[in-house]
Amino acid sequence: MKFLTLPSGDEMPALGLGTWQAAKGEVARAVTTALDIGYRHIDCAHVYGNESEIGEALAATDVPREELWVTSKLWNNSQMPEDVRPALENSLKALGLDYLDLYLIHWPVQLKNSVMYPEAGSDLIPWTTGHMLETWSELEKCVEDRLVRNIGLSNFSTKKIAAIIENCTVHPAVSQVEVHPYLQQRQMCEFCAEHGMAVTGFAPLGSKHRPAHQIKDGEPSLLDHKIILSIAKKHSTTAGKILLAWAVQRGTSVIPKSTNPTRLEQNLEAADKILDTEDMDLINSLDSGYRFLDGSHWVKEGSPYTLENIWDGE
Ligand SMILES: NC(=O)c1ccc[n+]([C@@H]2O[C@H](COP(=O)([O-])OP(=O)(O)OC[C@H]3O[C@@H](n4cnc5c(N)ncnc54)[C@H](OP(=O)(O)O)[C@@H]3O)[C@@H](O)[C@H]2O)c1
Repeated sequence: MKFLTLPSGDEMPALGLGTWQAAKGEVARAVTTALDIGYRHIDCAHVYGNESEIGEALAATDVPREELWVTSKLWNNSQMPEDVRPALENSLKALGLDYLDLYLIHWPVQLKNSVMYPEAGSDLIPWTTGHMLETWSELEKCVEDRLVRNIGLSNFSTKKIAAIIENCTVHPAVSQVEVHPYLQQRQMCEFCAEHGMAVTGFAPLGSKHRPAHQIKDGEPSLLDHKIILSIAKKHSTTAGKILLAWAVQRGTSVIPKSTNPTRLEQNLEAADKILDTEDMDLINSLDSGYRFLDGSHWVKEGSPYTLENIWDGE
């Protein structure tokens, strides 16, 4: 397994297990299987609603805590300074941990504290750099108090991350964004390399299990793309493994979700799969800027959010 070194000096395993949409009743078994076969990085979030079940699997494992990498994320309704530490403590309690390895601000989008998912534009509060710096400052205190070792951002543009870097005392460690051959995030990867940060890619397999209302008509498939399939055939392997091997080989970390024992194993093996230059060049040619998770659920009548102000045109 490759590791990515963060500004703190901590080393994050390049391939981890995603847990979004990993159903209650399935997720503990998936995490246990994953840990048994060698996964050491688990990607969680309060909003996934399954942290306490993941906690049961973490409590039962023989893997020493210092060998595990556990990430969680601050949900959009807990960004007010007074809500940050309680939200982190809530995730720690659910996961049964004393500290997280990484805590991310989930989105540059703020919801009213009483709202989990917005139903109306009035459920959303406008984003300002000033407010995000206050949120960040609370996270820095949580690092000082050893509740979390590293902090970072998810779904933030390089422009928004730069504003945090200019004003921080604890440097952001990770940018977690959607990354796959159709959305290669070259600007983000270059920015993070310049600033010593790691990029973690979500939806590496195309996130086919998203709720139906988030799936657009005619959206492209990664797993069925003819170039990916032809490279898989050449290596006598699966399309999924090729997508994950590409992600690790280009220096990002990647967090495929699976609750299926066979796919869990295949996905882990992908971290050590080597693709040749021709394979990498062919996959690199597929970049089209296509987002599976484009943030349109934050854009409603009366919402202060637009796709332009979420992504800053990146
Ligand atoms: N920060 C954010 O805003 C954000 C957003 C989205 C996701 N994430 C994180 O990133 C993780 C991964 O993204 P994702 O869950 O959206 O999607 P994904 O990992 O791209 O796709 C997961 C889907 O692919 C299937 N699958 C897994 N391995 C496979 C393989 N080898 N071949 C074919 N199909 C395979 C899974 O089914 P089975 O379970 O049946 O194998 C599941 O339906 C999430 O779980 C979450 O932890 C973060």
